Amino acid sequence: MENIIMTGDRPTGNLHLGHYVGSLINRVELQNEGNYKKYYIMIADTQALTDNSKNVDKVKNNLIQVAIDYLSVGLDPNKVCIFIQSMVPELFEITGYFMNLVSVSRLQRNPTIKDEIKQRNFEKSLPIGFLNYPVSQAADILAFNANIIPVGEDQLPVLEQTREIIHSFNNTYGEIFNDIQPLLPKKKICARLPGLDGKIKMSKSAGNCIYLRDDEKTVKEKIMSAYTDPNHIKVSDPGQIEGNIVFSYLDAFCQDYHFEKYLPDYKNLDELKAHYKKGGLGDVKVKLFLNNIIQELLTPIRQKRAELEKNIDKVYEILFKGSEEAREEAKKTIEKMKDVIGINYKKFLKN
Ligand code: TRP
Repeated sequence: MENIIMTGDRPTGNLHLGHYVGSLINRVELQNEGNYKKYYIMIADTQALTDNSKNVDKVKNNLIQVAIDYLSVGLDPNKVCIFIQSMVPELFEITGYFMNLVSVSRLQRNPTIKDEIKQRNFEKSLPIGFLNYPVSQAADILAFNANIIPVGEDQLPVLEQTREIIHSFNNTYGEIFNDIQPLLPKKKICARLPGLDGKIKMSKSAGNCIYLRDDEKTVKEKIMSAYTDPNHIKVSDPGQIEGNIVFSYLDAFCQDYHFEKYLPDYKNLDELKAHYKKGGLGDVKVKLFLNNIIQELLTPIRQKRAELEKNIDKVYEILFKGSEEAREEAKKTIEKMKDVIGINYKKFLKN
């Protein structure tokens, strides 16, 4: 079976380094490996509206920013179909058929939804659309009969819902959907990159992010004030690696060649860690090293972003073209669904 890859993001904030190591870099890798028949990346604006119904400006403004982030990290619209969810209305139609196969109580038991309901104070007044988003996410995936779904860990319960819908639909009406496989980031640290404050994962609401669009000075300031080991006061003190954000980021971003280039006194990260643990290595030195690595990563992304920002129309055109293409594919899927459900009335005509 040839792979069809499908994934997406809600446009509710600028993308940050957590997104970069948690998903963007894997997506670019998959693209460059080229081992697929089709590859879709969707900007999930209608899903974002399920908990932002009164914040349309936020969704609308972030949509174009996320598109620019995608293109500036190296996603290539000639190889990947990048599209806007609301421009493929067929996804709603597919959602409608799936909604009959899922119970309200099943959605209420979904651990991701449960957490998100709490975070959003939706306990008293839960929008139907929000509760239903795992069903609509199944439609996003199955509209393209995708089998490989690159996501973060938090999405696993949502993908489990897609699986159940696949089985239920195939059993009830006819086998048209293939099973899906989530694709998680390879390194554990990358799946849940901690924030600069060291408390929780990097997230916009916690205000602990380095954004792909931060300028050089901002990035440096953020790195220099990142949480390390509060007991590592003098350079000579032994330091702790666990929970030390600067080392967490080095685990995620550092490669051996960085040492040769920026810190030739050490061969690799193990040596650096050993010295820090023993004592005699100051935080500033480690932070400046991390800063070099992150700036090296972000500089070309910033340059590409600046170019794209000069021609926003072109970015919209890419999204419109991708949406048309996605739409054609989703229409074909609806025909197949109607065939097996038994309501493709056009086929009932005798001549
Ligand atoms: N729920 C995903 C998120 O919040 C976004 C998303 C929407 C998605 N539809 C999708 C991801 C389909 C993978 C496949 O990040």
